[in-house]
Amino acid sequence: MENKIWYDEAWEKINTKVDRISNRIQDGFPHVSIKGQYNNERCGWWTDGFWPGILWLVYRETNNNKLSKYAVSCEKKLDTVLNDFIELHHDVGFIWILSSVAHYKVLEDQDARKKGLIAASHLAGRFNIKGNFIRAWTNRVASDSQGWAIIDCIMNIPLLFWASEEINDPRFKHIAMAHVDTVLKEFIREDGSVHHIICFNPETGERLEALGGQGYSPDSAWSRGVAWAIYGLTIAYSYTREKKYLEGAKRAAHYFISNLPEDKVPCWDFRAPKNQRDAKDSSAAACAASGMIEISKYVDEYERDLYIDAAKDILKSLYENYGAWDENEEALIKMGTVNYTNNKYINTPIIYGDFFFVEAILKLRGRQELFW
Ligand code: GLY
Repeated sequence: MENKIWYDEAWEKINTKVDRISNRIQDGFPHVSIKGQYNNERCGWWTDGFWPGILWLVYRETNNNKLSKYAVSCEKKLDTVLNDFIELHHDVGFIWILSSVAHYKVLEDQDARKKGLIAASHLAGRFNIKGNFIRAWTNRVASDSQGWAIIDCIMNIPLLFWASEEINDPRFKHIAMAHVDTVLKEFIREDGSVHHIICFNPETGERLEALGGQGYSPDSAWSRGVAWAIYGLTIAYSYTREKKYLEGAKRAAHYFISNLPEDKVPCWDFRAPKNQRDAKDSSAAACAASGMIEISKYVDEYERDLYIDAAKDILKSLYENYGAWDENEEALIKMGTVNYTNNKYINTPIIYGDFFFVEAILKLRGRQELFW
């Protein structure tokens, strides 16, 4: 009974706040909140799907038309980027799953469906057949990155699974599974910790090296990377029923859970040295918790509580210790870290932290259907 009270309460606060902040943010693209106010990113930035995603999550519960109107307007603004091609990157998944695919799933909008399929085609086009990976960025983001794959891509892969089912054609799924197999082989370590970046020779597909990326080092454990793996591998399992994907997700979840501090919100890197443990990443906590709730759907009754209880512990701590339930802050959850090694947005509210928090709270209230 006590549990039910806190997540219902959290939902009421989310609903009130999203309704209020949407009056100012409207069809903008918030990424990080500075001094209580969300910034507005350029159109095409990788995080541009999370605000429309939040709007669709809340609209689906409330039928608040103001929210769907802003979400549709964000989606429209993204059309120029979708048609541009040159600047596109693997995060077309994050962007169009949470804008167009969400729009299609909630309101059956046919134009939105088409945009989701176009985005899936762009993602499939980034596949390197020699190395069996999807190329992450453009050279403008990271020079000479033709052979780079990053763990974050596992959360873009659902776009391919969705497209295959949508048009009843397994081509997208084949590419998705080839990439997920590479993730299991090259990114997830024996202990469940995860590499951020793996470089392959783009001509031969040979694995060259691991890079630290947003983590402390090539051998460390960037906490958001572990969270991406937990959730992304579980979604891959949900579409394919490949047992090894769920096992990989569970391995990453066990690593995440067993390395959490007392307040259940990790440091930016589980292996950061003592003098660099001054930054939390609440977004990793929210994403991992939402992923653990998904894992709990696919395990037997003896295992279920492990994942659900861990997710609830994390979310309750986010709600009670990291929630921004006042008028002076637009974000919902404080203390995310974008990029500690580059000194970019440390202990700052981040839009994807908010997204995964809202999504996970709604799951605890019984909402089953995903946009992913
Ligand atoms: N996808 C980039 C990040 O997680 O910060």
